[in-house]
Amino acid sequence: MSNQHEHHEHFILPVKLGIFVWFALIIGTIITVLVAQVHLGEWNFAVAMAIATVKAALVVTYFMGMKYETNDNRVIAVSAIIFSVIFFVLTATDLFFRKDGVYVQKGDLEAWAALGADSQTLKFKKPWVSSDELVAHGKKLFDMQCATCHGSAGKGDGPASGALNPKPRNFTQASGLKNGRKPAQIYGTLQKGLGTMPSFGSLPKDDLWALAHYVSHFGPDVLKDSNADLKKVGIDPSKEDGGLGGAGSKVLPIDFAIELMSEDS
Ligand code: HEC
Repeated sequence: MSNQHEHHEHFILPVKLGIFVWFALIIGTIITVLVAQVHLGEWNFAVAMAIATVKAALVVTYFMGMKYETNDNRVIAVSAIIFSVIFFVLTATDLFFRKDGVYVQKGDLEAWAALGADSQTLKFKKPWVSSDELVAHGKKLFDMQCATCHGSAGKGDGPASGALNPKPRNFTQASGLKNGRKPAQIYGTLQKGLGTMPSFGSLPKDDLWALAHYVSHFGPDVLKDSNADLKKVGIDPSKEDGGLGGAGSKVLPIDFAIELMSEDS
């Protein structure tokens, strides 16, 4: 009991020891400043951290009296320090070793700003005219966005089709498409959506055309659009951009939008 009582008394740091520790701290500071003049590359940081650690240990041990504390209190103080170090190391490794290119580059922002909301940039020229490239691009999009319902062979038998009523269309048949199976008609369906099928109107216009051409390729024969068919879905085939300029909406990819928001905050 009396032994425990002693521990609760205020410790008094012997004057000589106090002065000695104070000198050690001053010398540590001088070394830190001197080392900073020498170019040791990555070692500058390591040396500075080592000296700072020794100095902090001296302050904690003598000035804050850890040397005269009970073991319980030592454990608590040391664990707090260890946790701080863990956080520091984790943050540092993220900051120092993160690869370039994970960040949004300034150029990206400018490129997006330059696109603007009212200028449709088409990856494909005249996407209403079918091409092998467009059909191949359409296949990629179809497998990602449509096959769950329509099946990868376009037979309307995708894994999600069972739950739907009416069933997703079977594109391999010549009849059965309510809006028609010409590319422009399919394009129109995708823009508006139909029944339980959502609209895909937020996709870039040339992606919609690529999908329309791919879907029409499932059919027993591939139908062609007349100029009148194109007009119905707002395409003026006499113009290089089909008159899409201004009408198109450029969608911001989700990942990119999130990056933008985190840059702002
Ligand atoms: C959530 C399931 C689902 C997804 C995903 C889906 N569809 Fe559909 N689709 C349907 C259903 C259901 C119908 C029938 C709608 C109706 O008749 O009410 C349909 C109908 C259609 C039609 C025929 C319209 C007509 O004229 O009868 C086309 C063309 C079509 N989808 C294309 C696509 C394309 C291309 C995609 C991918 C971009 C797609 N669908 C994604 C469920 C889906």
